[in-house]
Amino acid sequence: MVSRSGRDEGERPTVLVTRRLPAPAMARLAARCTVDVHEGESPLPRKALLARIAGRSGAITLLTDRVDEELLRAAGPRLRVIANYAVGFDNVDVAACTTRGVVASNTPEVLSEATADLAFALLLAAARRVAEGDRLVRSDRPWVWGPEFMLGGEVHGKTLGLVGFGRIGQAVARRAVGFGMPVLYTDVQAQPPAVERALGARRVALRALLEGSDFVSLHTNLTDATRHLIDAERLGWMRPTAVLVNTARGPIVDEAALARALRAGRLRAAGLDVYEREPQVDPELLRCPQAVLLPHLGSATDETRQAMADLAVDNLLAVLDGRRPPTPLNPEVLEP
Ligand code: DGY
Repeated sequence: MVSRSGRDEGERPTVLVTRRLPAPAMARLAARCTVDVHEGESPLPRKALLARIAGRSGAITLLTDRVDEELLRAAGPRLRVIANYAVGFDNVDVAACTTRGVVASNTPEVLSEATADLAFALLLAAARRVAEGDRLVRSDRPWVWGPEFMLGGEVHGKTLGLVGFGRIGQAVARRAVGFGMPVLYTDVQAQPPAVERALGARRVALRALLEGSDFVSLHTNLTDATRHLIDAERLGWMRPTAVLVNTARGPIVDEAALARALRAGRLRAAGLDVYEREPQVDPELLRCPQAVLLPHLGSATDETRQAMADLAVDNLLAVLDGRRPPTPLNPEVLEP
């Protein structure tokens, strides 16, 4: 029975986990709930997802699961919480959750440093042709050191533009301090002068950022307003020697336009961890040697995935136990 406080009483709640999480988090869940976990590396097909969420009290979902009105309807009235195992929540219709009184949560903070590390790895790799060089050494093609052999772009002292200056954007800026890089940023919110001073950062308009940066790294949520934020026109505002890095969400960049810009030499290089139609990558982009392409690894470290799993479980169990979850997306659902 589910009490008015949302507590499942008299029985263990049943929850769906749409992909197996690290073992300690699974053990914590199993100690309190009956757990239906989808095994395997691929997401649950939509029909199976809708069938398996029916009657559940909660679910831990991944960024590959669409949580919308249809899914909430399929879940039925027992559903109390959707704990998304990601900081990004463009896969979750938060308003639909709110309307149905379902708490939605995400996993902020715990993945900021790992994602910033990967953004910087892509920045360095794209500028200094790391992936291209690795491919060459492994190939049968001969090579020899030469004054103009495989030249890249200098990183130290160059200007870094950060589109989005939240937790991850600021973590990237902290790394840039060590490389002597002045930072330009865009964000709806200006940071206090002390933060800007410490990070050598200045808030500017998007056009000024794109025109004035040697490296542009994207750290904004995917929303209707940011879909194709970096389109053909805005790519045209960037310097031909500039490098674009995206560890946020693929659809923020018009991938076809980016491939055209790279192939035409209107941009030096790109480092991408995310794609517009993930896991598919625009075939034109695959043909660009100066694009460094990773399979969405931003948060993929043992420590971070463990921390994300712990936080997702904390969120889920808190709601089922009638407590306030640590990182809700729609706290208004929790108001008495
Ligand atoms: C997120 O959390 O949004 C990342 O894309 C995956 O960790």
